[in-house]
Amino acid sequence: MNTDSNATVIRVRMSDVGRKLETTQHAALRVSARLLILASWISGAIFAVYIIGFFGGSVMGGSGERWNESLPDLYDERTWLSTAAIGAHFMAGGVLLLLGPVQLFESVRRNFPVFHRWLGRIYVLSAGFAGLGGLGFILGRGTVGGPLMDVGFGIYGALMVLCALMAYSRARAGRYREHRAWAIRLFALTVGSWLYRMEYGAWHVVTGGIGIERGFTGWFDAIMMFFFYVPNLLVAESFIRSRRQEHGTVASLGTAAMLFAASAFIIFATWNFTARNWGPRMISGIAEVSL
Ligand code: HEM
Repeated sequence: MNTDSNATVIRVRMSDVGRKLETTQHAALRVSARLLILASWISGAIFAVYIIGFFGGSVMGGSGERWNESLPDLYDERTWLSTAAIGAHFMAGGVLLLLGPVQLFESVRRNFPVFHRWLGRIYVLSAGFAGLGGLGFILGRGTVGGPLMDVGFGIYGALMVLCALMAYSRARAGRYREHRAWAIRLFALTVGSWLYRMEYGAWHVVTGGIGIERGFTGWFDAIMMFFFYVPNLLVAESFIRSRRQEHGTVASLGTAAMLFAASAFIIFATWNFTARNWGPRMISGIAEVSL
């Protein structure tokens, strides 16, 4: 073989290796994203059933004051408007957790576009109710953790309303690439509400509750007032960008590893929280209605 044909063989092999790497990197991204969506959905669905079972069940059974077992002053008949706002936010939050992942599955979007559109409208409306209901409660009664928590949760509510509006308006304008990006951001935010509980649960298990104080005044409490949605938004941004630009293999595999790690954390934390908290409360709330 002469030098020219040797060079050609090397070039062909190199491009084969390149293609294989590219396929691996796309497969890793796809599998890790699907796993994360699935883990989030199962976990979010358990949280949603807990919300509907415990909060919905208690109020329907005439024991609305049981809401305060979860956090003090959630239910107060004297300030019924704030109570109604947080109640509406609970139910809308439950809907968000159940519907969000369905919207993200490409096969559903491709094969059932009308279904996707209707679910999208319900989703955006629920995000508006969850965000505005939460904001109404903060303005009317304030959070249990005081001004810093008001700010952290206030920004969270404002971002949720913004992402819902942007996802909807970009879809209406036919700008689907942008619509998808805003929908992913919105999903990352809705995930935050249950991650917040799970991160607390996991922290308790691992450290015994260092930095957590009554009235949410500890240093861990202060971090958590923002930490439950900022990292999710960063993961979402990294995912949006890794699909948008042709990133290097290392960056894409890094994103996939991050998505796998996030799934492992969700599975661990969900198991923990369901066994200790959501499960028993959900059963007692449903029992209120049937008694
Ligand atoms: C998927 C969306 C959401 C779900 C599922 C959800 C769920 C819940 C639940 C179950 C509680 C009761 C406390 C507990 O059991 O831990 C709660 C409380 C609360 N949520 Fe949400 N939430 C969501 C979104 C939001 C948003 C966007 C805001 C922003 C304004 C917000 C603000 C609040 C506030 C202020 C409280 C009461 C905290 C206190 O008493 O100090 N939530 N939420």
